Amino acid sequence: MGIQHLNSNASAEEILEILDADAGVIIDNVLSSDQIDRINSDLEPYLKNTNEGQDEFTGFNTRRVGALIARSPECRELAMDPLVNNVSKKFLEPHSDGYQLHFTSAINIGPGETEQIIHRDRGVWGGYIPRKIETQLSTIWAITDFTKENGATQVVPGSHKWDRDRIPSEDEICYAEMSAGSVLIYTGSVMHGGGANTSKMDRLGVLIHYAPTWLRQEENQYLSCPPNIAKDLSPELRSLIGYSKGGYVLGFFTDPEKKDGELEGVSPERMFSKTHDEYSIIKSAEKLVTNSSKKR
Ligand SMILES: [Fe+2]
Repeated sequence: MGIQHLNSNASAEEILEILDADAGVIIDNVLSSDQIDRINSDLEPYLKNTNEGQDEFTGFNTRRVGALIARSPECRELAMDPLVNNVSKKFLEPHSDGYQLHFTSAINIGPGETEQIIHRDRGVWGGYIPRKIETQLSTIWAITDFTKENGATQVVPGSHKWDRDRIPSEDEICYAEMSAGSVLIYTGSVMHGGGANTSKMDRLGVLIHYAPTWLRQEENQYLSCPPNIAKDLSPELRSLIGYSKGGYVLGFFTDPEKKDGELEGVSPERMFSKTHDEYSIIKSAEKLVTNSSKKR
């Protein structure tokens, strides 16, 4: 038993077939060394300044950086990866009219970190959603090599089909060992957790997750990538992170500043439309964000 590997020419269908059986698969050597260098330089200033986690789950020797769409041009490329997006669409569309970006985080597991508790990511929604509905397609992009010694992600292949309370034995836990530039694709239903780092090196991964458009995003994209930044993204990426409708009226936007009714019931896409008073709409959305952060 182990985590299956495919090469970067793999089709979405091959990936989905393994996800159906194991709920986790590694695609080897997707990123070039130039891309890895650019990701490292995007993340370095943030990783340098961030604190370690404050509890067992987030890890006392682990540093996390979020808001990657706002902060890292290269992570925007990862989020838009065509193969991953094709897999996300096909995996999630039986349960939704669309999918969206759900979560971004660069996670650096430092030397001395202990293993994270094994969990299923779908727990973020509190266990209210029937298990036959898949709610998440996740990626961990390896920015350094991932080895069992430096904290490669623990994965329990096939555990998406287990009874909820079954606990994996040690020999059922596999490790997502992969070279820098590879990506682990896994589902929200598979048991997994960060690995212990018994080495002297850091283990850096970029996590980008996707979910159906009808579910609340784990990382609030309207605050993590507010309109003043989102306005400069490509329309495709902006839509992916949530500035779009998730159904006929799901997520529509009305400008609270407008009194003439001109934009009543507009779609969020119109927020950045050239045909309307783009700037004032963005301004009003920014004001909402500023006011809400002041209240905290
Ligand atoms: Fe997780």
